[in-house]
Amino acid sequence: MTRRRIIIDTDPGQDDAVAILLALACPEAFDVLGLTCVAGNVPLDLTTRNARIICELAGRPDIRVFAGCDRPIDRDLVTAEHVHGHSGLDGPSLPEPEMPLQDQHAVDFIVETVRAQPPGRVTLVPIGPLTNIARAFNSAPDIIKKVKEIVLMGGARSALGNVTPVAEFNIHVDPRAAACVVSSGVPLTMLPLDVTHKALVTRARNAAFRAIATPVGCAVAELTGFLERYNPARYGGDGAPLHDPCTIAWLLRPDLFTGRDVNVAIEVESELTMGMTVVDWWRVTQRPLNAHFIHDVDAQGLFDLVTERLARL
Ligand code: RIB
Ligand code: CA
Repeated sequence: MTRRRIIIDTDPGQDDAVAILLALACPEAFDVLGLTCVAGNVPLDLTTRNARIICELAGRPDIRVFAGCDRPIDRDLVTAEHVHGHSGLDGPSLPEPEMPLQDQHAVDFIVETVRAQPPGRVTLVPIGPLTNIARAFNSAPDIIKKVKEIVLMGGARSALGNVTPVAEFNIHVDPRAAACVVSSGVPLTMLPLDVTHKALVTRARNAAFRAIATPVGCAVAELTGFLERYNPARYGGDGAPLHDPCTIAWLLRPDLFTGRDVNVAIEVESELTMGMTVVDWWRVTQRPLNAHFIHDVDAQGLFDLVTERLARL
């Protein structure tokens, strides 16, 4: 298997943490070129802190972590401490990071890295608001055709919204950035709430994380356990959705997932539906098929994969 060169663009975030740990647990599959942080779940100073905490938890203080945009392109920042806690990484007690934050801005790192790599070798994995990606594309349009693909967590169709009645958080925080990304022409796979809401951390799945009986396993049990505090009150059901790791899991085992090529457009005008992902599911328009929209998953197969790989760390 050729190692996939990836940049994870992230706003940790407990579920981001599990996604990053999963990627770092699979060095045979991924060459993680860097983590680029963006403001989202919590402000930028905390997402850059949390990303480094996660790298050190994984035993990878060598991973380069970059600070990116601290607010959306043309809107005020909306955060989600009510879901993720004040730190954004509430749940386990983890030490403050010692590894450095890179001096280079995340957007410049994305541009420089894509330019330096052979065409079609870099995969972008955004799991937070898309501000960094959009700013990279807007400041350096030449890189758009060089990116291999984008695999992002965001959006919703029949799952509706989690931050407004119709909008998913990552898209809602920076709708104009999302519109830039989905219209860029880069091959795009979206993992929306439609699939992530089927990836629930049930009691048994959380117990399997804890049964790994390593610092990573225990931390993941506590990270995902914290998220549960919020979701049953909101969504009911048994456990919290494990959103962001679905991106890395799809890259590892696309056979666990089911999707459809569709057109996705982003609402950027109406405040009522701001950030809605408008999915032409039945192809009633002539809009281009710009996204592979994942809508189903073998949930137990997903959790078996995540648990087995995390046990490596
Ligand atoms: O809507 C879920 C997404 O918003 C996830 O990426 C979560 O980490 C938050 O960023
Ligand atoms: Ca996230």
